[in-house]
Amino acid sequence: MTLRRAIVQELESYASAGVTEVRKGRRRAKSSQPSTPAKAAPATIATTTGRAAASPKTTAPPRPAPAATSSAPSASLFDAQAAWANEPLDRGQRVAALEVLQQQVAGCTRCRELADTRTQTVFGVGNPQPRLVFLGEAPGADEDRLGEPFVGRAGQLLTKIIEACTLRREDVYILNVLKCRPPGNRTPTDEEAAHCWPYLEQQLAILRPEFICCLGAVAVRRLLSVTTAVGRLRGQFFTYQGSQVLVTYHPSYLLRNPPAKKDVWEDMKLLMARMGIELGARDKG
Ligand code: URA
Repeated sequence: MTLRRAIVQELESYASAGVTEVRKGRRRAKSSQPSTPAKAAPATIATTTGRAAASPKTTAPPRPAPAATSSAPSASLFDAQAAWANEPLDRGQRVAALEVLQQQVAGCTRCRELADTRTQTVFGVGNPQPRLVFLGEAPGADEDRLGEPFVGRAGQLLTKIIEACTLRREDVYILNVLKCRPPGNRTPTDEEAAHCWPYLEQQLAILRPEFICCLGAVAVRRLLSVTTAVGRLRGQFFTYQGSQVLVTYHPSYLLRNPPAKKDVWEDMKLLMARMGIELGARDKG
C-alpha cells in the first residue's frame, strides 16, 4: 500500500468513526501501541565523503522487545520503510500524517515506567518540510513540562547553534529518540529506545529530510545501529534511508564540557557547506 493511500485510509477510518478533526492534545489513552511492528534501524553505514568510514563497532542495539503491555498493535499507519521509496508527501499531507502519529504517541504505554511518570509525551517540533532534522536523546524536565523538545538549557544552546548556522528553529525539525522523559533524566534503555523506534522511523519517513544531525550517542546508536564513540564518528557523512547523517556532540555534553563547542562548530561548518548554506566570513574559518 502506498503511503498516500494508507494515510487517506487512516483518515477515512477516523471520519467513518465520527472523528471530524485531529487535535494536538495531552490525551492519555490507556492502551495504544506503536503502529508498526518495531524494527531495528535500517541505516547504511557508508560515508559520502569519499574517504573510508571510521569502522564503527557493529554491535547493534538489541532488537526491539515485544510490547510490555498485552494488547495487539493497532493497524499500521503506513510502512515507513516503503514510504521512502514513494513520492514525498506535500506539506498538508505531512501535517496531517504527523498529527495522526502524534495522537498515537500521546497514548503510548509501551514503557510502563515512562508512561506512568511522564507529564506528557514530547513528539517533535518544526518545519514539516525540513532539509535538516536534529535528533536528540529524550525529553528532560523542561521538555516534559512544556511538551516541546530542546527548550531547557541544552535546548537554548541548540537554538544558538542553529542560529549560528544562519537558520531558525522553525526552519528545521527537532525530535528525540524517546518521546517520554526518563525519570531523573537517566539514559534511555535500549528497550525503551526500541519501543519508541517505530514512531521515530515514521516521523523520519514523513519528514524525509535531506540531512539528519545526530546529537550524541543515544541518537547515533538508534539511527546508525553502532556503539562507536561520537568523537570517532564526527567529520564524515553516513546514510540513513535517503538522508545524509552527520554526528556531533549533544548540547548537554557541551554544557558540561565547553571546550567541545569548537568541535561542534567544526561539524556545523561541514554540514552547512554540504547543504550549500553560506556562513558569514567571520564564521567560515
Ligand atoms: N536533551 C534531549 O536530548 N532532548 C531534549 O529535548 C532535551 C534535552
